[in-house]
Amino acid sequence: MRGQTAPKDVSSSSNPSLLLSLNPATLRRDFPILERLVHGKPLVYLDNGATSQKPRAVINAISGFFENGCANIHRGVHLLSGEATQAYDRARATICQAMGAARPDELVFVRGTTEAINLVSRSWGDLHVRAGDEILLTEMEHHANIVPWQFLARRAGATIRVLPITPEGALDLDKLPSLLTDKTRLFAFTHVSNVLGTVNPATELCRIARERGITTLVDGAQAVPHGPVNVGEIGCDFYVFSGHKMFGPDGIGVLYGRGKLLSSLPPWQGGGDMVERVSFEESTFRPPPDRYEAGTPNISGAIGLGSAFDYHALLNWPELREHEHALAAAAHEALLSIPGVKIQGTVPGKAPVVSFTMDGIHPHDIGTILDSEGVAIRAGNHCAQPLMARLGIQSSARASFACYNTLEEVETLAKAVRKAHRYFG
Ligand code: ALA
Repeated sequence: MRGQTAPKDVSSSSNPSLLLSLNPATLRRDFPILERLVHGKPLVYLDNGATSQKPRAVINAISGFFENGCANIHRGVHLLSGEATQAYDRARATICQAMGAARPDELVFVRGTTEAINLVSRSWGDLHVRAGDEILLTEMEHHANIVPWQFLARRAGATIRVLPITPEGALDLDKLPSLLTDKTRLFAFTHVSNVLGTVNPATELCRIARERGITTLVDGAQAVPHGPVNVGEIGCDFYVFSGHKMFGPDGIGVLYGRGKLLSSLPPWQGGGDMVERVSFEESTFRPPPDRYEAGTPNISGAIGLGSAFDYHALLNWPELREHEHALAAAAHEALLSIPGVKIQGTVPGKAPVVSFTMDGIHPHDIGTILDSEGVAIRAGNHCAQPLMARLGIQSSARASFACYNTLEEVETLAKAVRKAHRYFG
């Protein structure tokens, strides 16, 4: 049963502590973990591409739900269930408004980017992709935007094609026309590369695909952490992202699907809350988004994600984007001054993701030495093995910045990388 009582705000959107200091230097105070020491040194957290840290407002929204409002949604006649349902629905409405979707029911709560892409691959893909069809990806995709399409291609007898990148790490758009053929059913591409930092021209790419009647899926996992994304302006069919990289909790993300398209698709998982009527002979299904949210969803996660969007809405993104670009530029300059350092991804206007290798030093060793200095980075293939192969490397070190990072932290990073060079170089 749907909740029906007057709502009490069990999320933190009315929490006065949200009246934040909104400049890059003071923003850090909202993130309690940034106070901690690692190996006796101040934490310099530069692994935001893997997951971001969480502001107190989001932490409070989640603990507030469990302390004061925990109940299942859509099922109870009691007060708490009504409040929880209202908080869950309010989170969806908040995200809808922030993302420029036409209606909240265009947004499906999922576990994250990976589940969203698997959902589309099953629900949309099994309906629309046939033997001989083509699915176009790009050379800079991470595994989440490759493997589900391979599953689909195998089921359907379709072929994966790949748009290459240039040496700087941009999409090679000269090659795009010949890859968009009358067999192409889908163009799925990342908005921002998690390795190169390249920001792809999503609006233009979607327009080109739309003119040819090709469905588009944009992977926004690395884009939404760096300021508002408007799906209406991008003009995509599907847009997917995870909450945990944009100050929200893990285990929650969003699939945006353009209204008519989403409501024309079959469900992919069956269970409670996604059905209208069930008998042993057959079942009928609710419209989106419920159709795609079988079983008890991640209620606290959705509330936490709504709170992350509330927090984002208070930030001065034009100023923060400039700050993030300054961080990336400073990191490039400082790292390139160290002998043997090479940076992967040099496209102007890139997001603050700086992947690098050093002659004679394995990225894991770089990561370990940096850790001993309190600097957290990622080292490995970044879930992008085909891109690594294209770059001619097995792995790299990656410093990925959020708007709460500072230029002083870039200096600490460079100092720690110099130390690695002295050890191994
Ligand atoms: N895809 C995530 C990253 O780039 C996990 O680190």
